[in-house]
Amino acid sequence: MARKLFVVGVGPGSPKYLTDAAKEAIKKSRYIVGYSYTLSTIEGVINRSQQEIHKVTMNTQETVYQDIYGKMKDGDYCTVPFTGDVNFSESEVVDRLLQIFGEGNVEIIPGISSIQVAAARSHVPIDKALVVTFHVTGDIEQKKADLLEAVKKGMSVILLPRPWPRDPAKHFMQSEIAKFLRGNDVDTSKLKAWVFEHLTTDRESSFRGMVSDLEGKEFSDLSAMVIDQSKPQTYLDF
Ligand SMILES: C[S@@+](CC[C@H](N)C(=O)[O-])C[C@H]1O[C@@H](n2cnc3c(N)ncnc32)[C@H](O)[C@@H]1O
Repeated sequence: MARKLFVVGVGPGSPKYLTDAAKEAIKKSRYIVGYSYTLSTIEGVINRSQQEIHKVTMNTQETVYQDIYGKMKDGDYCTVPFTGDVNFSESEVVDRLLQIFGEGNVEIIPGISSIQVAAARSHVPIDKALVVTFHVTGDIEQKKADLLEAVKKGMSVILLPRPWPRDPAKHFMQSEIAKFLRGNDVDTSKLKAWVFEHLTTDRESSFRGMVSDLEGKEFSDLSAMVIDQSKPQTYLDF
């Protein structure tokens, strides 16, 4: 039996959004390797006297994943927990884990995404919105073009911004998004927006206004944004 990996979405922060399937995988694992925010979400499920818990950062993760893989015996399970849904805006790490453990030894367990919670709070259906993450390391020019096109077509947008404080050229948070849209002939004073910070946690807060109001405003890295152009349409309309 090979060394097995669970790649688990644990929800946006509150343990209330942790599924039973996620809990089962975590409990079955001898090793748990994650970022501190994600580990804090599952603190109530892990057993520090029986499981090995390893905290990683962006700089240490590669070494730690390799070390743990090297230490594991056949039949051991490891869980790497991810915030929200592991299938959204996590592929840079997930793809690396698939390489290290081998596709056939990895089970992906979905979680509730911050995007889903933002959709729920704003009443903007996901299927009527462009859903996009700017929280990636690579080039985002195509994503910006998609955003602009969606807004001009009258679609709603549910997005994760890109915090990059050390490089203002890469920073694409709410204020930059508002300026980008205005700079591309969108009347942002008529475009409704929501920003949700720290969703599902006791620090949760929300901003509701127009996209133009976002210029110059700063929000947490832990934020999701909704551009709301939704129009109600019920079965009575058909
Ligand atoms: C690398 S992405 C991970 C997204 C995650 N996989 C998901 O499905 O929500 C990290 C970004 O997710 C968003 N995010 C995660 N948890 C959040 C929360 N509790 N409240 C608001 N935004 C959150 C923030 O934009 C954060 O910078």
